[in-house]
Amino acid sequence: MAGREQWGTRAGFIMAAIGSAVGLGNIWRFPYVAYENGGGAFFIPYLFALLTAGIPLLIMEFTIGHKYRGSAPLSYARMNRKTEWLGWWQVSISFVISTFYAVIIAWAIAYTYFSINQSWGADTEGFLFGSYLHVADVPGQLGGFVPNVLIPLVLVWAVTLVIMFRGIRRGIELANRIFIPVLFVMFLILVIRAVTLEGAALGLEQFFRPDWEAMRNPSVWLAAYGHIFFSLSVGFAIMITYSSYLSRKSDINNNAFITGFTNSGFELLAGIGVFAAIGFMAFQQGVGVNEVAAGGIGLAFVVFPQIINSFPGMNGLFGVLFFGSLVMAGITSLISIIETYISGIQDKFQVSRTKAVLFGGGLSALVSLIYATHSGLYILDAVDYFINQFGIAFAGLVSVILVSWFLRKLPEFQEHANGVSDMRIGWWWKVCLGIITPIVLGYMFVLNVMQNIQENYEGLSTGFLLSTGIAAAVGVLILGFLLSLIKWKKNIIEAETDSKELEKEAK
Ligand code: ALA
Repeated sequence: MAGREQWGTRAGFIMAAIGSAVGLGNIWRFPYVAYENGGGAFFIPYLFALLTAGIPLLIMEFTIGHKYRGSAPLSYARMNRKTEWLGWWQVSISFVISTFYAVIIAWAIAYTYFSINQSWGADTEGFLFGSYLHVADVPGQLGGFVPNVLIPLVLVWAVTLVIMFRGIRRGIELANRIFIPVLFVMFLILVIRAVTLEGAALGLEQFFRPDWEAMRNPSVWLAAYGHIFFSLSVGFAIMITYSSYLSRKSDINNNAFITGFTNSGFELLAGIGVFAAIGFMAFQQGVGVNEVAAGGIGLAFVVFPQIINSFPGMNGLFGVLFFGSLVMAGITSLISIIETYISGIQDKFQVSRTKAVLFGGGLSALVSLIYATHSGLYILDAVDYFINQFGIAFAGLVSVILVSWFLRKLPEFQEHANGVSDMRIGWWWKVCLGIITPIVLGYMFVLNVMQNIQENYEGLSTGFLLSTGIAAAVGVLILGFLLSLIKWKKNIIEAETDSKELEKEAK
C-alpha cells in the first residue's frame, strides 16, 4: 500500500489530539455536569475516571493506532480478524455524532453573529426556542427547514470538508496549529474577565462547594465516566485513527498524558469562567446561583446571552469571544470525528481521499439536515443522550473487555508503548484497564439500562425515543457488524504492521 500519510511534527500531532479532545463538551457540558453532580465533590469521581479509565484508554488507543497503523476497523482487524466489527461500530458512532455536532457549531456561528448587537433581546430563552430554532410543539413534527440554522450549517460543512480534502498535514494539522492557539488565547481573555466581575466569587463558591452525599449516587459516577470518554475523545475511534498517522518512533505515553491533562485543564478553566460569569449575573439580579445555572444547550444559548446582555462594557466583544471559542473548539473536534470514517472508507474500499471525503462527509452533511428542521432540537437531544450512554461508554467498555480479557493484549501493548516512549507505564495501567474500568463501568452500565427501562429519558414518548435515540444507538451496532461483513477491496490486513519491524528500525 502506498505510504500512509503522517503528521509533520510531534507538536502537530499533540495539537491535533488536543484539538479533538477540547470541544463543545469542555465548554458547555463540563461546567454543568460538574455542578449538577456534586460540585466540588464531583472532582473525585472525575479524577478517578480520568486516571483509571480516560488516560489508560487513551494510551491503549494511541498504541493500537501506532502499532497497527490503520483506521479503527483496519487496526482492530489486524489485532484480530474477529474484532473488525468493533472498529466499524466505533466509526459508526462517530458518524452519528458528526451529524449533530456540526449543528451545534452552526448555532454557535449564528450566535457569534447575534452577539455583535445582542440581537437575541431580553428574553433569551424565548429567542432560542421560538425566534431562532422555531421548535415544533410536538416532538417529531419536522415542519420544514429553519433557514437560520440551515445557512450556518452549510458553512460548517463547507469549511470542514475543505480541511478534510487537504489531508492530514496540510488540512487537519494546519487547521489545529491555527485554531488551537487562537482558541486558548481567546478563552483565557474571557476567563480573566469573568473572574474579575462583581459577584464572580459567588458562582465559584457554588461550583466548588462539595456535596459529599452526591458521591454515593452511582449516576454521579456514570456521569463522570461518560463525560471523560466524550471529552477525551476515547471510545469512538478518533484517537486510534489519529495515532495511525504517527511515525514509527513517536512517543505514546507522554503524548497521552499531555493530551489528557491539557484537556482537563481547559475544562477546569471553562468551569471557572462559566461559573464566575453566572455568579456575576446572580449578583446583578439579586438571586441565588442555582436559579441562574442551566444545563447543556440552555447554559450556552440562554444563560450566556443573558450574561452578555448585562456585561458592564464591550458586550459584543465578549459575546464574540465566547461563541467564537465554541465554534473553534467545535471545528477542531468535528474534523477528528469525521476523519474516523474517511480513513475507514479509504482503507476498506481503497478509494482516494477525495472520494472518501465526498462520500462520507457528503452523507453526514445530508443526514445532519434533519436537525435543521423544527424538530431538530428534540431529535438532537435524544440522539446525543443515547449515543453517549449506549454508544461511546458501551463501546469503550466492550473494547477494554475484548482487548484485556479475551485477547489478552495488554502486556504486548504495554511493551510496545514503553518501547517508543520516554515515560514507562507499569502494572497500574493493566490493573486500570483489566480490572477497575470493566468492573466499575460495567456495573454502572447495567444500572443505567435499568433506569432507562423504568423511566423514559426526559419524559419523551417511547415511540419518539425508539425512532430516534434508541434507533441510533442500536443502529450503529448493527451497522458495525454489517460493514465488517463486506470484503476488503485489497487484502491489507496482513500487510506491514507490527512491532517487529518497529524494533528493527529502532535499532
Ligand atoms: N472531545 C470532544 C468534545 O469534548 C468531542 O466535545
